[in-house]
Amino acid sequence: MGRKALITSALPYANGEIHLGHAASTYLPADATVRFLRMMGVEAYYICASDDFGTPILIQSERENKTPQEYSAYWNRRDLADFEALDVSFDMFYSTSSPENVKFAQYVFERLNQAGHIYRREIIQYYCEADGKFLPDRYVRGTCPKCGAEDQYSDLCEKCSSIPDDILDARCALCGAPPVKRPTTHYFFRLSSFAGPLSDWLDSSPNLQKDVKNYVRSWIKSGLEDWDITRDIPWGVPIPLEEAAGKVLYGWFDNHLAYISTALKFLEARGMDGQEFWNSADIYHFIGKDIVYHHYLLLPAVRMGLESEYKLPDYLPTRGHLTLQSKKISKGRNWYIGLRDFLGEYPADYLRYYLLSITSYSQDDLNFDWDDFATRINSELIGNLGNFVNRSLGFTAKSFGGVVPEPDGTDADDQAARLRISSLAESVGSQMTSNHIDRAVRRLMEFSAFFNQYFQRKEPWRGGPGTASCIYYSVNATYSIAVALCPFLPGSASKMWTQLGLEGAVSDMPWDSASELGIRPGHRLGKIYPIFAKVERAGIEKQKARLGKH
Ligand code: 2FM
Ligand code: ZN
Repeated sequence: MGRKALITSALPYANGEIHLGHAASTYLPADATVRFLRMMGVEAYYICASDDFGTPILIQSERENKTPQEYSAYWNRRDLADFEALDVSFDMFYSTSSPENVKFAQYVFERLNQAGHIYRREIIQYYCEADGKFLPDRYVRGTCPKCGAEDQYSDLCEKCSSIPDDILDARCALCGAPPVKRPTTHYFFRLSSFAGPLSDWLDSSPNLQKDVKNYVRSWIKSGLEDWDITRDIPWGVPIPLEEAAGKVLYGWFDNHLAYISTALKFLEARGMDGQEFWNSADIYHFIGKDIVYHHYLLLPAVRMGLESEYKLPDYLPTRGHLTLQSKKISKGRNWYIGLRDFLGEYPADYLRYYLLSITSYSQDDLNFDWDDFATRINSELIGNLGNFVNRSLGFTAKSFGGVVPEPDGTDADDQAARLRISSLAESVGSQMTSNHIDRAVRRLMEFSAFFNQYFQRKEPWRGGPGTASCIYYSVNATYSIAVALCPFLPGSASKMWTQLGLEGAVSDMPWDSASELGIRPGHRLGKIYPIFAKVERAGIEKQKARLGKH
C-alpha cells in the first residue's frame, strides 16, 4: 500500500436516478475502501463525476424540452444529493461536460492523432431525411433480428439483451420515418495495435483480479477491433479538427478521462501538482462487470497512447450485478429500487451494512432480498453488534454511574478479550487491503459475537469478582468496534463515539487504534441510547408490495 491513492467509481450517466444496483457494485465498495485508506494514513481522494454526454441523454433531454446541459446538470445535482444521503464521501463530484474535461479530451485526441493512433474511415450510417440528422445508436428503433421483439433500440434489444447487427424494419426514433443509409466520415482509435502492450500490462499487474484478467486475455486473443470514437450528434466533446466540424467524440472516449481531469482540478485547487500526484499514487477504478471491456482495454490503451503521461490503474476492483428479489434489475421494466426511495424508509447504514456484507470481491452476482435484508439487520447488525454495544455501555451507565471502572484482576477470559482487541485492526484490515470488504465486515461481526459471549459468560449483573474487568474490556471493545466500523457504517460509528464520551471525529482516528485499549479507567461515557431500531416485518411486506410500481 502506497502513501497516496486516487479512487474513482464508474461515473453514473446523468440520465436517471441512482438505484441500489449502482450502490452495491461500485459506490459503496469504493467508499468503504477510501475511508479505510484515509484511516490507514494514506492521502486518499475519492473522485467522481456525472457522465453527461451521449445519445440517450440527448434524446431524453429533447423529450423533456430541456437543453442537454440543463438536463444533465439536473441529474448531476440529484445524484450527488442521493450519494450524500448514503454517506458516500466523494472529495469531488464533477461532470464529464466540465470545461476542464472537454479541454482534456480534446488534448488527448490531438496527442493520439499526432502519434498516429487515430485514423479516418468512411462508414455507412442511418440518416433521417425528415430530421436532417444522422441517427446513431438509440436514434433508431426496429425489430430485433434475434428474438423478433418489436420497437427495440438498434444498439440494444431490451427483451433478449442482444446487440443487433442490423435491426429490422428500422425507424427514426424521433419522427418514425424509415431512415436511409448514408456515408459519413468517422475517426477510429487503433485499439488493435495495443494488443501486445495490453497483454504485457495484464501480466505485470498483480493487483488486477485474476479471473477478470483471464477473460480479457481471451478477448485480446480473439482479436481487438479498432474503436469508432465519433458521433454525428450535437452533444459531446467537439472533435478538435476543422475537417470534423459538427462531429463529437463518443462518450466512452471522454468519460474515463474525467477521472483524470477531475482529479487534476481537485488537486490543483489545493496547490498540488496534479500529474505528479496521479503518477505517484495508487490508482483505483471501481467498476461493475458490465464495463470491463472499457476499463481493461480502452482506458489503458488510451493512456498507453499518451505514453503513460498518466499512469495506468493499479486496481480495477470489478464486482457483479445486483439482482432484486432474484430478478434482473431493469429500469425499463420498473424492476428496481431507487436509492432515494430506499433512504426515505431505512437508515443509510442499514443499506450500507446489507450491501457491503453480501458483495464479494468477484464478478458473482448478488441478490437484494427484502426478507434477507430484514433478517440480517435484525439478527446481525442489531442482535449481535448493536446489542453488545448497548449492553456494555448501558451496563456501565446503570451500574457504574457512566464511569469506566478500574479492572479488578485478569482471568483467562479477560486475557482472551485483550488478545481479541489487539488483533482486530490486523484481522479486519488485512481483508480490506485485499479488497475483501464482505470478509472484513464478517470479521468485525465475529469480534462482536465474541464479546457478546464474553459478557454473557462473565455475568456482570451478578456483581461478583471480575465485574469491573468485564466492563473495562467491554467498553474498550466498543471503542474498537467504533473505530473498525467507521469505513462501513460511518454514521453509526460516530454515534458510538459520542456515546463513548469521546471528542473529535472517529474517522480521524488511525486504523491501528482499533487494537488499542483506548478508554482508561475513570473515563466518563456520554448519553447512552440504542443506536439501531428493528426492521418491522409489516414495513417489509409494504416494500415488497410496492416493487415494480414506480
Ligand atoms: O456504464 C456506465 O454507467 C458509464 N456511465 C460508466 C462510465 S465510467 C467511465 F467514465 F469510465
Ligand atoms: Zn426522423
